[in-house]
Amino acid sequence: MPTPPMILLLSGSVRSGSSNEAALRTVRAVAPGRLRTVLYEGLAELPHFNPDDDHDPLPPTVAQLRAAIDEAAAVLICTPEYAGTLPGAFKNLLDWTVGGTEICDKPVAWVNVAAPGRGQGAEATLRTVLGYTGARIVEPACVRTPVGPGTAGADGVITDPGVRERLAAVLERLAAVLDTLTA
Ligand SMILES: Cc1cc2nc3c(=O)[nH]c(=O)nc-3n(C[C@H](O)[C@H](O)[C@H](O)COP(=O)(O)O)c2cc1C
Repeated sequence: MPTPPMILLLSGSVRSGSSNEAALRTVRAVAPGRLRTVLYEGLAELPHFNPDDDHDPLPPTVAQLRAAIDEAAAVLICTPEYAGTLPGAFKNLLDWTVGGTEICDKPVAWVNVAAPGRGQGAEATLRTVLGYTGARIVEPACVRTPVGPGTAGADGVITDPGVRERLAAVLERLAAVLDTLTA
């Protein structure tokens, strides 16, 4: 039995009670058995990007990040918008991916959980930065599904059936792309 392909889940928020992380926890909860999901939890531990340090041996947390991306068949991002763009911590993570080849050609999508009409700046920046990294943006899997405060239960997972359905659909669309790549 082959190991199911892994989807790496990257949250752009380090806030406890984050709606973006709740969405990714929900992705994990609704994932079909034919996919594995791994929620990356090292964002707050990454050092500030410094080109002087972007060589072997990499800082251990950066090496772990790159290894996780390398292992992933696809990456799913869920990030808030701060001041019209990406949170600095998440841009920092993306900066650390530029010097490696792990994300090149990797199928990547994002879910925007902001309220309607918000979060477009983060999406635009993601598109620009991922373009520089050479990631393969899976357009049909990039969706909006607003997640308001207090939507997650005590376990941090969203119970709203509509949100769960849309997140499950994102995984199906990513899986469909992975199927075409392995066919
Ligand atoms: C410093 C700061 C700046 C923000 N700037 C924006 C913004 O420019 N556009 C926007 O749509 N939301 C903005 N927000 C709202 C956040 O995107 C929103 O609170 C989001 O839910 C945070 O995600 P999280 O719950 O995953 O931490 C800002 C929030 C903070 C704290």
